[in-house]
Amino acid sequence: MAERIAEEKINAIRQSVDIVDVISDYVQLKKQGRNYFGLCPFHGENTPSFSVSPDKQLYHCFGCGAGGNVFSFLMEVEGLSFLESVIKLAERANIDLQIEASDVSKEKSIPKEFQQMMEAHELLRKFYHHLLVNTKDGQHALEYLLSRGFTRESIEKFQIGYSLNSWDFVYKFLTKRGFSPSLLEKAGLIIKRENNGSYFDRFRDRIMFPIFDRNGNTIAFSGRSLGADEPKYLNSPETAIFNKSKILYNFHLARPSIRKQQQAVLFEGFADVIAADHSGVENGIATMGTSLTDDHVALIRRYVQSVTICYDSDHAGIEAAYRAATMLSEAGLQIKIALLPEGLDPDDYIKKYGGDKFRHDVIGASMTFMSFKLLYYRRGKNLQIEGERLQYIEEVLKEISMLDNAVEKDYYLRQLAAEFSLSLEALKQQVSITEKRMKQGKNRNMQNMHTFSAFKKDQLRPAYYTAERCLIAHMLKNSDVAYKVQELLQGHTFNIDEHQAIITYLFGFYEDGHSPDSSAFINYLKDEKLKRIVTDIAMMSINDEISDQEMSDYIKQVLNYQKMLKIKEKELEEKEAERQKDFARAAAIAMEIVQLRKSL
Ligand code: UTP
Ligand code: MN
Repeated sequence: MAERIAEEKINAIRQSVDIVDVISDYVQLKKQGRNYFGLCPFHGENTPSFSVSPDKQLYHCFGCGAGGNVFSFLMEVEGLSFLESVIKLAERANIDLQIEASDVSKEKSIPKEFQQMMEAHELLRKFYHHLLVNTKDGQHALEYLLSRGFTRESIEKFQIGYSLNSWDFVYKFLTKRGFSPSLLEKAGLIIKRENNGSYFDRFRDRIMFPIFDRNGNTIAFSGRSLGADEPKYLNSPETAIFNKSKILYNFHLARPSIRKQQQAVLFEGFADVIAADHSGVENGIATMGTSLTDDHVALIRRYVQSVTICYDSDHAGIEAAYRAATMLSEAGLQIKIALLPEGLDPDDYIKKYGGDKFRHDVIGASMTFMSFKLLYYRRGKNLQIEGERLQYIEEVLKEISMLDNAVEKDYYLRQLAAEFSLSLEALKQQVSITEKRMKQGKNRNMQNMHTFSAFKKDQLRPAYYTAERCLIAHMLKNSDVAYKVQELLQGHTFNIDEHQAIITYLFGFYEDGHSPDSSAFINYLKDEKLKRIVTDIAMMSINDEISDQEMSDYIKQVLNYQKMLKIKEKELEEKEAERQKDFARAAAIAMEIVQLRKSL
């Protein structure tokens, strides 16, 4: 791959983008001292252990060990090859790479077949859209949409289309363009008949909603029936390019707005997303008719700390909202719930009351998760009946004890006390008992985590480990220091193989005429493990300069370990000589040991 794009180009790209900018597209970063911190996108966590250094142009996670430069980041977070990450950043930096798209697809980790599936979807999306907006065949569908309140603007923006009432239109349209029937079947666009092996179109006479992946590729469709035909929405099946549990409808269009507002609105249906978008709520997303999955949560959490859930107000909607809110808040997100009047979904509401009212009275008036819980536990209970009332109070108290914020706790306790004429003191007491019980369970976990993350790593390392790392850190910053270290080592090597490999490469790097630059050095390395270690080391905070004293102390620690090993070896030899009654030899060895010990 390196043959294809010149190293200078790669460096130019790396230097013209800022790693903080690039990572900010995926992680919310907060500046703290010289570095930026945020929640690691590569593993689940609630406290930030992911750091980005603008000076070094590197990132590193203390929790899971992920790390590297801007290319490694894109490779990991987007699942790209190195070449793809270079191309992506070149686009961002407006640097012309002069390579053909076909070169890329060859290199791409995405198999050719998947690309063809996307191409088929792409063609079909354009054609379905054309049928809806420009042809007589699609006129009734267009009228249906307009009568439901969809605007032409939305139809354009969401690329809504219409599939003809035909059994073989798609089959003919796409096979004529060179797509094989078996590929189209795998893509979920046509279905094979069992009796004679012929094919028919999956979507017929439906309003077609294209489903895009995060990069804007069309990867599936959902077709809504025009009348009362069942199912109401027919979705593409799960395919190699479409995984419902990972896709959020409208994510690719909503992403800029989600980032800007630091907030996403989660809906249940496509129609809701589209209607909300038209009323100015452009950060709306929806699952594909499935409930929220952990993958969805991870995706959302990469972008925001706060989510508003705006589900239908029917029984199923409330249950689903409760479940989604619990999952999202367990992932550390702030939750708000936007409630609609009974019987309406967001799309109905907007049609009835208009977008302004939706923005102000629904989204703008959304409640905290706790307030929602108060309503949630109340459902289906008759609070006039003592037993049900007590159960309700108990459920709510348990929730209140779990709140982190003392002011909030007090607020809800007062509300509860007032509503049921209870003594505030008694409620507080009850809450503190529950809290204590929970804390006992929690503390144990916290202690375990602490031992693992902080102590295990560095405090149990031998002195030479730290010494070698400190030396490498300085050698990465200054080539003179590197050569000085080489001199001081006098032909000895570092004790840790990876460290030795790193400095060997580092000398090669300097010999090739590169100046010190950790981020460039990471590209120079081919081995993933070494890359990580270098990142880890480069992210250490060290002084700008290293004194001669410091340097020789470190070297001493490195060499001492080798001498210690040597001494151990000699001691064994000495014992062996004594055992063989070769006392002259034993004495000679003893002398050597004394010399070695002296030099420590
Ligand atoms: P709804 O039944 O609430 O539909 O399903 P809706 O969004 O209000 O649609 P309209 O207004 O009747 O056109 C919510 C979501 O559940 C999925 C779809 O993703 C839909 O947007 N769904 C629903 C299906 O996948 N299949 C169905 O048959 C019904
Ligand atoms: Mn609806």
